[in-house]
Amino acid sequence: MSMILRRNQGAFWLLKSCYSSSAKPGDSAKTIPKNLLEDKQTAVLQKENGAIFDKRPFKIHLEKDKTYSWCLCGKSKSQPLCDGMHKNEFLKIKQRPIRFKVEKSGDYWLCNCKQTTHRPFCDGTHKQPHIQSAVK
Ligand code: FES
Repeated sequence: MSMILRRNQGAFWLLKSCYSSSAKPGDSAKTIPKNLLEDKQTAVLQKENGAIFDKRPFKIHLEKDKTYSWCLCGKSKSQPLCDGMHKNEFLKIKQRPIRFKVEKSGDYWLCNCKQTTHRPFCDGTHKQPHIQSAVK
């Protein structure tokens, strides 16, 4: 696991990268994957995060060239992916799902706390105390 030093509200804290599953043994620098649709989907620019669904990421196998929809609102019953729950007009959900593609097929850690700054991938934000204490 690689360690990342991040600055958060004046304090530095360490993150352990979660991307061990798709990396080959001996890989030195593990980085957060890139959403290949990041520049094409305006939903990525949504400012508000969704409701905290879980306090840890979800490992999922993803196929190259397939388009996925990651649940941002936190209300989907098919986490971490969207099931269309945001369309329920009675819930008055503002967030829309994040469409994404991955560079290569493999296992990925998707954010399930819905607070990541690297949507839809886990970036370790879930380790913050307020997220850990929000879900039992
Ligand atoms: S689950 Fe890790 S940042 Fe959301």
